[in-house]
Amino acid sequence: MQTIKTTSALRAAIRQWRSDGLSIAFVPTMGNLHAGHISLVETARQQADKVVVSIFVNPTQFGLNEDFDSYPRTEREDQEKLIASNADLLFLPAVQEMYPQTSKTGISVASLSTILCGESRPGHFDGVAVVVCKLLNMVQPDLLLLGEKDFQQLAVIRQMVADLNIPVEIKGIATVREADGLAMSSRNAYLSETERQLAPMLFQAISTVRDEILAGAADFETLVVRQSQRLQQAGFVVDYFQVRRSADLMPASATDQSLVVLIAARLGKTRLIDNVHFCR
Ligand code: PAF
Repeated sequence: MQTIKTTSALRAAIRQWRSDGLSIAFVPTMGNLHAGHISLVETARQQADKVVVSIFVNPTQFGLNEDFDSYPRTEREDQEKLIASNADLLFLPAVQEMYPQTSKTGISVASLSTILCGESRPGHFDGVAVVVCKLLNMVQPDLLLLGEKDFQQLAVIRQMVADLNIPVEIKGIATVREADGLAMSSRNAYLSETERQLAPMLFQAISTVRDEILAGAADFETLVVRQSQRLQQAGFVVDYFQVRRSADLMPASATDQSLVVLIAARLGKTRLIDNVHFCR
């Protein structure tokens, strides 16, 4: 696996592969790779001739009081995992390489970027959209793989790619979970031992709401309020708990078929998100 730190070297490698007629799949990450990331790389491996992974902790998607400085950076271990999963190229740019000048161009995906996580993290999805757009322009992949754990991020990027005619196919990959149901996330490392015991309640709560809907319940509000109360009693601070249409993340009505139950909640200093999507 080659590790490349500059855009010019990245472009040269891509140019060579393109002239050899090879297809490229791309997995953007912020590093601290876990089994969820590796499942993206493994799917990429099956779908294209070459697999590019980026590791870049993007400062523009963190708010002022968020965890940019403390976000786990584990480059060496990440490189070993990528070699073991047969990635071809790791793009590992410094902040100066990604943002050599003060950017004056923004990307805001109206409505999708400001609801749910966008409400409590203003500007977050604008930062994500810009960095993913830049990375897509640099890598120019045929296929982009993203985890469904960040369901709203996936929706924002799908909309951006469609609106800006970016020539890439997007594949959302199912969330990988710990044995007790907790969605894998780099931020799980922030949980204390006691919090880690409680954390699977999040997945239990959204799964219960899904099961109740599949069993015929139609008053979504009552379902999520009941589960929110259970979580609050256990010590979670629920940011949002919503049943939405999975196509556009707008509030779901009793007749919508394709649904997603989304949650964000704080446990101590850790903000956790999760979702389940399903059809009825
Ligand atoms: O999901 C992430 O890790 C990041 O938001 C992404 C897509 C790599 C953009 O920085």
